[in-house]
Amino acid sequence: MNILLVGSGGREHALAWKIAQSPLVERLVAAPGNPGMARLCEVREVGATDVAGLLALAREIAADLVVIGPEVSVAAGLADELAVAAIPCFGPTAAAGQLESSKAFTKAFADRHGLPTAAYQVCETVDQAKAALDGFSAPFVVKADGLAAGKGVVIAATRAEADAAVEDALGGRFGAAGARVVIEEFLEGEIGSLFALCDGATSMLFGWGQDHKRAFDGEQGPNTGGMGVYSPAPVFTPALVEQVRTRLAEPAFAGIAEEGAPYRGVLFVELMATAQGPKLVEFNARFGDPECQALMLRLESDLVPYLMACATGRLAELPPPEWSEDAAICVVLAAKGYPATPKAGGEIRGAEADFGPDVVVFQAGARRDADGTLRAAGGRVLNVCAKGPTLQAARERAYAAVGKIDFPDGFCRSDIGWRALAREPG
Ligand code: AMP
Ligand code: GLY
Repeated sequence: MNILLVGSGGREHALAWKIAQSPLVERLVAAPGNPGMARLCEVREVGATDVAGLLALAREIAADLVVIGPEVSVAAGLADELAVAAIPCFGPTAAAGQLESSKAFTKAFADRHGLPTAAYQVCETVDQAKAALDGFSAPFVVKADGLAAGKGVVIAATRAEADAAVEDALGGRFGAAGARVVIEEFLEGEIGSLFALCDGATSMLFGWGQDHKRAFDGEQGPNTGGMGVYSPAPVFTPALVEQVRTRLAEPAFAGIAEEGAPYRGVLFVELMATAQGPKLVEFNARFGDPECQALMLRLESDLVPYLMACATGRLAELPPPEWSEDAAICVVLAAKGYPATPKAGGEIRGAEADFGPDVVVFQAGARRDADGTLRAAGGRVLNVCAKGPTLQAARERAYAAVGKIDFPDGFCRSDIGWRALAREPG
């Protein structure tokens, strides 16, 4: 098979790493890819939202399958154009992808289909938003409506901070993504990420884990796209997984199909495990980043048949995926200043060393100079991932590798996995 993989982050590096291991694959091309992916497969300089360019590339390489990594390609309608060209695509249409691209759409969708979620109000002006805030109590949750790379959410401890967040978002900080804001009830509980595949009709669970969204240790600092993750996560008891499947994932797939936009790809259900059961925090129309990295380390089945089955309506023919009993962890190395003002260009040494069989370093926002030097070129720069028989063992391996990477302009959290380790006896 020939596969075109779209994207350039750590998630896509992890997908490329796993896809390249499949005996089914003859040719794997990534666009636009990154220096780490270039060591695994061909990379071509076509941007993730250049729909015409990607379609032409898919035709040029006679792609049997296009795999969409990032949400921006979903929102740009890449799957829609590929459908017209009859090229199988893993990734939803722009209409189905509204489950991620508009929080206001998702909240109304949740209401229409009875999905449990936080009470909310959608507001278009600062006055409306301030009036809405009067109806909630601290901590306040203020969200930009559109795609903001995980940075459009503010949890404000005080009303003054909430007012400032509203003014900031509606004042244009997130461009068109902030034309509306959603004010939401604060949910008490533990956060989790669950993944489910769908081929338009049949769906299947595809792993879960726990992310760390705040920038700094101890859940301090601003929200980010995710600073580290581990899988499995003890918050996902069998009962919770079952509730998420039946109350959130399956009703979402049924609802979006009923609304005329059957979902083909992976749905990322971000939920809060509350005392009243799981409540939807948000959907994403793609794998999580860095959740995907940890999942790819644990996935023992060949990934490619699952991607292809979603694209071609044949998921019912496949067994559930097999996962390693091992725990996997991913520690994100970000550029100093992330998420607001990540420092670009910092030199990285030692990231491409061989760290042994249980450690893989994926590249995210990285670029390579002509002389081979690796440099930071984004907020989240490297994903140091490790596997081990216990989370503690995986974590020690990951942080040992972090210690060997020389990235003076970078930082990471030192407490990834703390919630699970706090539960482990001894
Ligand atoms: P999101 O970008 O929607 O994933 O939100 C970022 C983070 O903010 C989430 O991972 C949660 O930790 C937190 N969060 C979002 N919505 C709520 C809410 N309604 N109540 C409590 N925490 C929330
Ligand atoms: N790690 C959370 C996300 O991908 O949005």
